[in-house]
Amino acid sequence: MSETSFSSTSLSIRAAELDAADELGKLRERFRLPEGVVYLDGNSLGALPAGVPGRVADVVSREWGELLIRSWDESGWWTAPERIGDRIAPLVGAAPGRVVVGDSTSVNLFKALVGAARLAAGRGDAGRTELLVDATTFPTDGYIAQSAARMTGLTLVPVEPADLPAALGPRTAVVLMNHVDYRSGRLHDLPGLTAAVQAAGGLAVWDLCHSAGALPVGLDEHRVDLAVGCTYKYLNGGPGSPAYLYIAERHQDAFDSPLPGWNSHAEPFAMAPGYVPAEGAVRGRVGTPDILSMLALEAALEVWEGVSIEAVRAKSLALTDFFLECVAAYLPAGRVEPVTPAGHAERGSQVALRCPDAKRLMTELIARGVIGDFRHPDVLRFGFTPLYVGFADVERAARVLGHVSG
Ligand SMILES: Cc1ncc(COP(=O)(O)O)c(C=O)c1O
Repeated sequence: MSETSFSSTSLSIRAAELDAADELGKLRERFRLPEGVVYLDGNSLGALPAGVPGRVADVVSREWGELLIRSWDESGWWTAPERIGDRIAPLVGAAPGRVVVGDSTSVNLFKALVGAARLAAGRGDAGRTELLVDATTFPTDGYIAQSAARMTGLTLVPVEPADLPAALGPRTAVVLMNHVDYRSGRLHDLPGLTAAVQAAGGLAVWDLCHSAGALPVGLDEHRVDLAVGCTYKYLNGGPGSPAYLYIAERHQDAFDSPLPGWNSHAEPFAMAPGYVPAEGAVRGRVGTPDILSMLALEAALEVWEGVSIEAVRAKSLALTDFFLECVAAYLPAGRVEPVTPAGHAERGSQVALRCPDAKRLMTELIARGVIGDFRHPDVLRFGFTPLYVGFADVERAARVLGHVSG
C-alpha cells in the first residue's frame, strides 16, 4: 500500500468516526442537497432547507391565492419583519425587539451608518469627524460607507483591521468592521474592538454576514451599537433573502433612520403627512416587505429549533481543523498556502487557500462535485456549514483537491 493510500484510508476512517459521534449530523436530513455533491459554498448561498418549498407553495397558493389581502393580518405578513427578527436574535445574541428583517445588507448598512453618524452627532462633540472602515472590507460596505460619510459630513478613513486600535481617537465618530473577513476567513475580535471603539468615544457597527449562524456573536453581551447581516449564507434563507438590522436597545429611541418609510411609522395606517417613528427596532423598517422571500427565510430558520450556536461553533472548528489536516496530507507542502488563520480565536467558518492556479482548480473541483468558490485573483474558498456538512465531505473535498492539483 502506498503512503498516500494509507493516509487516505486512515483519514476516511477518522472521518467516519467523527461523523458517527457528531451530534449535529442528523440535521443534514433537514436539507435538500443533490446526491454526490460536497457543498462547501454555504458562505455564499446556503443550501435549501427541506421545509422551504412546501411553505413557499402554501404562501403563494393559499395565503396569497385564497386569502388575498387578508393575509397581511390573518397570515401575519405585516408583522413578519419583527417576528423573524426575533427568530434571528438568539443566533446573534440579541434579546427580542432588537433585530428587524428586510431589505438587502447594503441598504441596512446605509441605515446603520447614517443612523450611527446621526447618533454620534447627537452627542454634540463637533471634533468627531471620522468614519473608520475596514480597508479590506467586502466592496459594498466600502461603497456605502463612502456615500454615508459624504452625506453626513464625515471623513472616510480606511484602516487595516490590525491597525484599528491605533487609528481610534478623539476624531472617531463611527467604525464599521466585518466580524469575519469574506476573503481570508479571519475572525476579528468583536468584543475587544467594540470596547476599544467605545472607549475612544465612537460607535461600533458590525457586518455579520460571514459569522451569523456559524459562531456566537453576542451583540447584547458585548454592547455592540448597531449591526447588519445577510440571511442567505449560514442562515440558509435563499437567494436574495432579506437582511437584518440590529439596533441596541439604548439607541432605539434616538435612532433616526435615513430611510423613514411608512412601514416604520408609529401609525402606518393613519396615513399621516408627518413622520413619527415607531418604537423599537421596527423603526428600521422602510417599505412593504418582500413577503415571499421573507416567509421562505422564516421556514428556513425552523432548522435551528433546539440547536445551540456553541455546538455549531465547536463543529465548525472541528471541520476546518480536519480539512486543513487532510489538505496537508493530500497535497505536497507548499502547493497551496492557507490564508485563514490557524488559531481558533481568529478563524471563521471557512478555509481560504491561495495558489496561482486557483481558478482552474476550482473549475475542476466543481466538475467533480466539490463545490467551493474562487475569489479573484488566487484564492480557493471553502465554507463549512455545520448544519449540513460532515467530516466525510471534508475528507473527500481535500482528496479531490489533491487529485486535481497533482
Ligand atoms: C461581508 C459582506 N457584506 C455585504 C454583502 C452583500 O450585501 P448584499 O446582501 O446587499 O448584496 C456580502 C455578500 O456576500 C458580504 O460578504
